[in-house]
Amino acid sequence: MKIGVFDSGVGGLSVANAIRQAMPSVEVVLREDRRHVPYGNRSPQEILGFVVPIFQELVDENCQAIVVACNTVTTTLIDELRQRFSLPLVAIEPMVKPAAELSASKVIAVCATPTTLSSPRYAQLKAEYAQDLKVLEPDCSDWAFMIETQNPDRQKIEARINEVLTAGADVIVLACTHYHWIEKEIKELTAGRAEVLQPEPAVIEQLKRVLARL
Ligand code: DGL
Repeated sequence: MKIGVFDSGVGGLSVANAIRQAMPSVEVVLREDRRHVPYGNRSPQEILGFVVPIFQELVDENCQAIVVACNTVTTTLIDELRQRFSLPLVAIEPMVKPAAELSASKVIAVCATPTTLSSPRYAQLKAEYAQDLKVLEPDCSDWAFMIETQNPDRQKIEARINEVLTAGADVIVLACTHYHWIEKEIKELTAGRAEVLQPEPAVIEQLKRVLARL
């Protein structure tokens, strides 16, 4: 069984590593769009032009499914991509529902790219699952670039995390796969004051279900 994993950059590697570890018999072909990363400040139309040829390559390489390991792509383009490609696309999107269910303070923080935060799909997730919650959206607009270039500014990250903790958030959603690389640091900064959610375990479960149906 061969699958593709796609992201604009190093977020894809985090997801691919998790899949390889959980499903060693699956061959994972990782594609990153290093020429155009970061995607998170670009328009959906521009991103579509980058993504379509890469997905086509994965199809041509006989991948049987593609994990879209990019919240920015999923929240803006997943419907369009599903129309264009007939193989299963396993999508990663902001974990608003589990965060809302978990929150006791009814304040959650969603860390994501500007394009994700302004997408209709994200608005829909909030309307569906977080109407009675306060959803904080700290400014993480330069995080993907900092992480991609292996130069994360700890003070900046700490400031954003302290800001949401002070505002009462007890769940922090990592809604950009690049941020998986700083999950440990964020957990250290929260020091148990908030749960930190990221989607790799859920994606692996969904991928298993999808592959079992093939
Ligand atoms: N890793 C991606 C995401 O999950 C996009 C980061 C970027 O390229 O801005 O949103």
